[in-house]
Amino acid sequence: MSGVRTVSVVGSTGSIGTQAIEVLAGERERFRVVALAAGSSVGALAEQARALGPEVVAVADSRRVAELRDAAPRGTEVLCGDEGLDVVAGMADVVLNAAVGFAGLRVTLGALQAGRRLALANKESLIAGGPLVARSKSVPGAEIVPIDSEHCAVHQCLRTASRGSADVSRIVLTASGGPFRGRSRDELACVSVEDALAHPTWQMGPKITVDSSTLMNKGLEVLEARELFDLRMDQIEVVVHPQSIVHSFVELIDGATIAQLSLPDMRLPIGYALMYPERLATPFGSIDFSELRRLEIEPVDRKVFGCVDLAYEAGRLGGAAPCWLSGANEVAVAAFLARRVPWTAIEQVVSETMDSYEPVELNELADVLDADAAARRHAEMIVAAKERAA
Ligand SMILES: NC(=O)c1ccc[n+]([C@@H]2O[C@H](COP(=O)([O-])OP(=O)(O)OC[C@H]3O[C@@H](n4cnc5c(N)ncnc54)[C@H](OP(=O)(O)O)[C@@H]3O)[C@@H](O)[C@H]2O)c1
Repeated sequence: MSGVRTVSVVGSTGSIGTQAIEVLAGERERFRVVALAAGSSVGALAEQARALGPEVVAVADSRRVAELRDAAPRGTEVLCGDEGLDVVAGMADVVLNAAVGFAGLRVTLGALQAGRRLALANKESLIAGGPLVARSKSVPGAEIVPIDSEHCAVHQCLRTASRGSADVSRIVLTASGGPFRGRSRDELACVSVEDALAHPTWQMGPKITVDSSTLMNKGLEVLEARELFDLRMDQIEVVVHPQSIVHSFVELIDGATIAQLSLPDMRLPIGYALMYPERLATPFGSIDFSELRRLEIEPVDRKVFGCVDLAYEAGRLGGAAPCWLSGANEVAVAAFLARRVPWTAIEQVVSETMDSYEPVELNELADVLDADAAARRHAEMIVAAKERAA
């Protein structure tokens, strides 16, 4: 890519999306934002459109399109629903997918099938649609540059290996440990939504913040890493690193371990995914080594945070199991955020849903949509039963 790069941002109103807009607004000589999309926040979307002047804005919730037409600047085309997102996914050099959850799948597939760079924050699409994403990556021009900080770290470390993933013996993903690090199962029986949303190091949207509290986020990241870097499950490990300074380790076949360190600031991986293979000169803070006293690494307490092992098991099962895991987790997290079930039920809902999983292969988009719907049906029934029993 040379000259000014065009960029579409899907999920532009969220935590990653607004940070991406901040990076892009500061680099107008390098990037031109041509499309913005969100779920339903039409006010915020229209405000971003007024500031950046994209050609297209799209809202996934078609019921909000009239409102968006009224609020969007004149001359900006207003689109909605799946068709709107399909247009946005295919119209730029770089498509930054920062939608949350399974809803990001169409954009991930659309961008790759159009031969674009996918700057990917939306891990759920990669986990749910792994085999389809893998096929779409072979379209000429298509590539994924990860935004998730751990995977962005691995991507950077792999640049030191001449044969890429073939030179890797294992990768170690770091987890902050979330707000409940060091707690026992008994202590977690009564935690509130507010407790789960109080993340110690990262400011993120509600779904991923809850995923960080259960450590399902790390389990999802193991599955994400397998898809991104073509590794086996037994080559991927997780550790807790409360300072969130080391974002991942990559051990190469000769025993050398490469790590990527930076302050916990998502604008760095966002800028990396936009600029790759170059780098943005804008510094997002630098580590003060005279102040940095400790870089702690400790094992994950897998007895308390059982979601990590559920993800490993889904990865070993393969087929549609990761799709089921991610779909069931979305239902369980939404039920917790709606105060329908306690925090401890999240792991139970996912585990009990996975008990009903029958092996299914994912060949077509319809298979992924069916698998996601089946997992959600099972998970919703389990949530309803828990509500009735409470
Ligand atoms: N936040 C982080 O630091 C971080 C770090 C690593 C990875 N990630 C990943 O990045 C993704 C986004 O996380 P986030 O924390 O930024 O979430 P968030 O703050 O909740 O934002 C979600 C974004 O997705 C949009 N959206 C919702 N439904 C949509 C749909 N059907 N179609 C298109 N867009 C839709 C939302 O629009 P509305 O505002 O209209 O609802 C919003 O713009 C997740 O997959 C997460 O795991 C996030």
